[in-house]
Amino acid sequence: MEKDPNAHVSNVDLPENINQVSTEHRAREEGNGLPSSSTQTSDNSGRPQISHLKRRDDDDDDEAKSPLKKLDTGEGHSQKVASHYNTLQECGLAARSQSRIFYMRNFNNWLKSVLIGEILDKVRRGPEQLCVLDLGCGKGGDLLKWRKGRIDRLVCADIAAVSIEQCQQRYSDMRRKCRPNERIFSAEFVVADCTKELLSEKLKGSEISFDICSCQFVYHYSFETREQAEMMLRNACERLRPGGYFIGTTPDAFELVKRLEASESNSFGNEVFKVTFQKKEDYPLFGCQYDFSLEGVVNVPEFLVYFPLFEEMAKKYNMRLVFKKTFREFFEEKIQNEQHKFLMKKMQALEQYPAEERNKLASDCPEEYEHVKRKVECADTKVPLGTLSKSEWEATSIYLVFAFEKMS
Ligand SMILES: C[S@@+](CC[C@H](N)C(=O)[O-])C[C@H]1O[C@@H](n2cnc3c(N)ncnc32)[C@H](O)[C@@H]1O
Repeated sequence: MEKDPNAHVSNVDLPENINQVSTEHRAREEGNGLPSSSTQTSDNSGRPQISHLKRRDDDDDDEAKSPLKKLDTGEGHSQKVASHYNTLQECGLAARSQSRIFYMRNFNNWLKSVLIGEILDKVRRGPEQLCVLDLGCGKGGDLLKWRKGRIDRLVCADIAAVSIEQCQQRYSDMRRKCRPNERIFSAEFVVADCTKELLSEKLKGSEISFDICSCQFVYHYSFETREQAEMMLRNACERLRPGGYFIGTTPDAFELVKRLEASESNSFGNEVFKVTFQKKEDYPLFGCQYDFSLEGVVNVPEFLVYFPLFEEMAKKYNMRLVFKKTFREFFEEKIQNEQHKFLMKKMQALEQYPAEERNKLASDCPEEYEHVKRKVECADTKVPLGTLSKSEWEATSIYLVFAFEKMS
């Protein structure tokens, strides 16, 4: 192996098994696995379902065991979601850098930065004002991206009041600390359950239209019921101007179901994440609940988003799917660009392998780096390489990234 002091992240290597996963996933989507939305079936309750991947003999009692039976039909999970995010502590950079998933978080953040940057370039129209809706903005993790993108106006909406408060505080701090001649976008903050309330009724400027709606790691909360998914979609798309974009990141239902079916139990995961379904084989189009935990912290329930259905529903708002890519596909494409590569280094979105002497790898377990070790041992590989540990990659590769464009 050849030592290249500048090679960090310029040369990248991620676990190969995920490559295979991607290929299988595509094959399945093209018709070998889950059917397209036109092949929806109904169970006896009239609920539409994703057809079963495989049937077992012991599931006659599906209805009684269905996760939908256990759903709270009143508030649903909205309050749980709000209080979960409200009580999540904002931790500082020092604590974040100690996290087992430090690089994975940075990787996800890099991916959002690239997505947002590219879409902003598409919608920018000379001197016209750029308005963005950040749907499910959380504590404002993307505020800097909007600043860097030189937008004019931002509306931040989230169900969690404490998160909105923190987001607003972060925005005020940003304004206070900005360069004297820098013009920062104006912003509005709205606490709303975007799966149940019409955002436009809560906005100050009732006539505002958006160039972009960004919905990062949020949309899956809405697939609890058809009504909720529709309201979320309405909030995302109804105020988009023609030529505007609805972009986001969400777990990939195909990937989740594939991994579930490959597992011997109702869950799968590794040392950093765990996904637990209530049962296998029956995947209703709405209300197909699973629990997701990250670094041992149990998150609130999420719901499968069956993408062909999502795409179909979006047509109601004249939305055309521009692309839908797995995180790997998106990464492999974007990393070819030198600016994106530079940003990746700057954001520490991959871990350096081998680690420098004074640094430790994110995991002490050698198997976590088998994929990159093999590569490093090849004579012509320039080191160090940029990588993610196997577990982090398995966690982040359940997601996909999408962009819809509003037609006239
Ligand atoms: C994983 S966080 C993502 C936050 C932010 N978009 C980001 O990328 O950093 C999910 C966010 O979705 C919000 N959320 C979940 N359900 C929601 C709903 N029904 N209406 C509005 N926001 C919701 C949560 O409160 C939380 O802030």
